[in-house]
Amino acid sequence: MYQEIDWEDGPKDKDEVTVRTPVNIAVIKYWGKRDEKLNLPLHSSLSVTLSMSDMYTETKARRSRDTVFCINGKIEPPTKRFDRLIKKIRSENPAANVDITTHNTFPTAAGLASSASGYAALACALKLLYPTRGVVSELARLGSGSACRSTAGGFVLWEKGEEEGGGDSVARQLFSAEHWPEIRVLVCVVCREEKAVPSTAGMQSTVVTSNLMQHRVAHVQVRIQQITEAIQQRDFPTFGEITMRDSNEMHAVCLDTYPPIAYLNDTSHQIIRSVHSFNSDKGTVRAAYTFDAGPNAVLLCEERDFVELRERIRGEFCGKKGKVTELVECKIGCGPLVLTD
Ligand code: DP6
Repeated sequence: MYQEIDWEDGPKDKDEVTVRTPVNIAVIKYWGKRDEKLNLPLHSSLSVTLSMSDMYTETKARRSRDTVFCINGKIEPPTKRFDRLIKKIRSENPAANVDITTHNTFPTAAGLASSASGYAALACALKLLYPTRGVVSELARLGSGSACRSTAGGFVLWEKGEEEGGGDSVARQLFSAEHWPEIRVLVCVVCREEKAVPSTAGMQSTVVTSNLMQHRVAHVQVRIQQITEAIQQRDFPTFGEITMRDSNEMHAVCLDTYPPIAYLNDTSHQIIRSVHSFNSDKGTVRAAYTFDAGPNAVLLCEERDFVELRERIRGEFCGKKGKVTELVECKIGCGPLVLTD
């Protein structure tokens, strides 16, 4: 049986664990670091955790004499990012070694970043095997910034923090999934290829060359307060508008990077127009889009509008010559799970 991990519940020095961790989608995007090695961001970000009905990372880890890493069925050398996690664990447990088997269950490459759920899973597994100081999201962040938000369920805030060592740059749940269970998510897969500019490199270049980025950093905190209030009040029109504006701004900042980075393609822009036309038919914001570092759209709405929105997208973009190759439906879900017996 899988159970949500309760970090408050005593020491965790197990010999073997299996964990499942969710994907998260930022509604206020993380883009830009103040520290590249520790993945410390220039500003805070906020995400929703997706339900694990068909998308999650499953990682099995056990204490062993050597560290072995098997990803999606293939033995791989541990990544540099993984080395950061294990180094942190070894600072308190010098003999720590793990045998890790990990795989993603994303339906036919749903076009979603796997690094967030992947590093969240490694962090959870390591921390269950080897108790260490600090919270699990701090460990996950060392692997990939957005991974720290996959260590909690519902609506999650990653506070940028002030400390040089990053001890206060951690993610925490603002509201559980049960707070607003009517939220629905539709992932529209436009392209399954690797992104042309990986987010780490894209961010680096933006921070160095974009003037617009300074404007973003200066006002993103206000947006976080506004969207938190909208979530608190389950006010979809405000939540949706802020989500769309923030995605648009992140992609504007990417275009302001020199040389410019364009993650969206024609289909992404058509989906944006389609969502705005859906909203103008309704007379208010009833659906929202957000895009990460690629052309795939993630749409959000409430349950009452879900079927209509999905069918509109299906009619306009799927089918024989359709530009959207797959639609994945999810809800908001809980945080990491651990296998108990
Ligand atoms: C556009 O977390 O993949 O998805 O910290 O370098 O591993 P690193 O970057 P990563 O960046 C995610 C960027 C984003 C926005 C977001 O998820 O907030």
